Amino acid sequence: MCGIVGYTGTKLAKDVLIEGLRRLEYRGYDSAGIALQEGGSLSVTRRVGKVEGLAEAVADLPTSSTCGIGHTRWATHGAPSERNAHPHVSCDGSIAVVHNGIIENFQELRDALAAKGHTFRSDTDTEVVAHLVEDYYEGDLLAAVSRATRDIIGAYGLAITCAAEPGRIVATRKDSPIVLAHGEAGSYVASDIIAVIEASRDVAVLGDGQLADMRPDGITYYNADLKEIEPSIMHVDWDVDVAEKGGYPDFMLKEIHEQPRVIRDTLAGRMTNGVLSIDELGMSLEELRLIDRVYIVACGTSYHAGLIARQLIEGWARIPTEVEVASEFRYRNPIITPSTLVVAVSQSGETADTLAAIREARIKGGKVFGITNVIGSPVARESDGVIYTKANKEIAVASTKSFLGQVVSLTLLSMVLAQAKGKLTNDQVRLLFKDLADTAEKVELVLSDTEAIDEAARACKDATDAFFIGRGMGSATSFEGALKLKEISYVHAEAYPAGEMKHGPIALLEPGFPVIAVATQSPVYDKVVSNLQESRSRGAMIVAVATEGDEEIKANADYVIYIPKVRDAFMPIVASVPLQLFARSMAIARGCDVDKPRNLAKSVTVE
Ligand code: F6R
Repeated sequence: MCGIVGYTGTKLAKDVLIEGLRRLEYRGYDSAGIALQEGGSLSVTRRVGKVEGLAEAVADLPTSSTCGIGHTRWATHGAPSERNAHPHVSCDGSIAVVHNGIIENFQELRDALAAKGHTFRSDTDTEVVAHLVEDYYEGDLLAAVSRATRDIIGAYGLAITCAAEPGRIVATRKDSPIVLAHGEAGSYVASDIIAVIEASRDVAVLGDGQLADMRPDGITYYNADLKEIEPSIMHVDWDVDVAEKGGYPDFMLKEIHEQPRVIRDTLAGRMTNGVLSIDELGMSLEELRLIDRVYIVACGTSYHAGLIARQLIEGWARIPTEVEVASEFRYRNPIITPSTLVVAVSQSGETADTLAAIREARIKGGKVFGITNVIGSPVARESDGVIYTKANKEIAVASTKSFLGQVVSLTLLSMVLAQAKGKLTNDQVRLLFKDLADTAEKVELVLSDTEAIDEAARACKDATDAFFIGRGMGSATSFEGALKLKEISYVHAEAYPAGEMKHGPIALLEPGFPVIAVATQSPVYDKVVSNLQESRSRGAMIVAVATEGDEEIKANADYVIYIPKVRDAFMPIVASVPLQLFARSMAIARGCDVDKPRNLAKSVTVE
């Protein structure tokens, strides 16, 4: 969702800000803007649409400014329009603000400020911050921002600059990330590491309530009482070129191809001297043994990773496990005791609903374990233990490699729980681990020949609807296949456990209706084939994902996509890949932008 950048230094600020905003584009947005300090005043340029439109608008701007702030906005309060785009300014235009998050008491603040004579020009919650800071401003921006944040209820990442204080930007945050870096060319702030690592590999992660006072020659950090503090520094070891396409036509394809590496990196160092361990769990063996219920809470694709894991945790560790959409979890008063383990899964680590679920679980006394892709993210910070999925930065809005990283991490967790409970011996775990590691090679094989996938996608490209079906592990895998297709190709796709088809959905089948079935070798294979036949006899076009060597399936499907033979427990890791490629291929055939699907944002920081 929204993105923040800010810069003060020796370079031309408009170029640094536009470059930073381009790096944040992957998050999804509908408008963008920048404010530049210009000889004692501020010049603000905002545009609806892509950052490219904003770049064109400022290309010929006669500016030598070396200090400014910028923003990409994903509308919450107020429609996507130029007047609602950030930066927002105070009455006299001397204070400019960019903001991520939601100011919950904005109406109350707005009414109070309006009564004092402030004039508002937008429908946003953010604009109140500009006026509030103006109200408290007595010549020191840091003091005014600090005072203003005491009045704000809600979530915020803020970068604020003031025309009267050349070269100064103040940033602060609560429940919305802010990172900073200082390099030779000056000081940078952003809501995402990717927009600051060009300055330095040592990135400061601002804590809740902390403030950063940025000048061209350095950044000073303060706690909420304005006492100077040492920032928490994180060293980033991945390259800026993770944000480049590396020769692939789009980020989604690049990220799909990175998956064998993600599997290997996620498993690296886990098995030492024949013993599997997750040191970051933050729980002793005794505590693990006491766990008698697991909740997996997540949204979207991450929720689907949870559906796969439930079968592993229940199957191997024999612990009752529920998978809950995070936005539902917190409102239904879940039963949590000290022996409940809540596993929060989130690529971005900043999904508002998942964070709310974590907080709910902790208030109720449960142990929380996070699985996330973003180091130092709120999910990582607020959990008792965390596994990082090692997917590295995921740019395409649709999750692919981070999903596989989540499934592999959850698989490890399932094995560790089973081991602790004495349900799997160390020898059994070692065998499983070897097969799990082998999935990397199997995914490589899938990626090496995609002709059958592309052919099936071409055949389905004009469909308006599609069903994804499977049983057991295949059912969980189907849910993710359907989500991928709908989000990037805009084809209406639904997933059902295959046995459910005849309880309703089959009524929709008509000649040519695509039914994509996960029909790999498993204890329920014959049942899936029967369900395929039921659909086929109603004229559906069947695309089957099957196990190499299965000739029988050809009699029941119009298109067959083979995957290498793999243990059923790990089948989703391998079978998800052709489904990702199928969705991408179909989206491309339909002329869609696979990296930036409409209406979607990479991280969903509002409930
Ligand atoms: C789909 C997708 C979304 C996310 C969901 C949760 O491809 O990316 O469904 O999975 O918004 O996001 P995280 O995992 O960041 O909590």
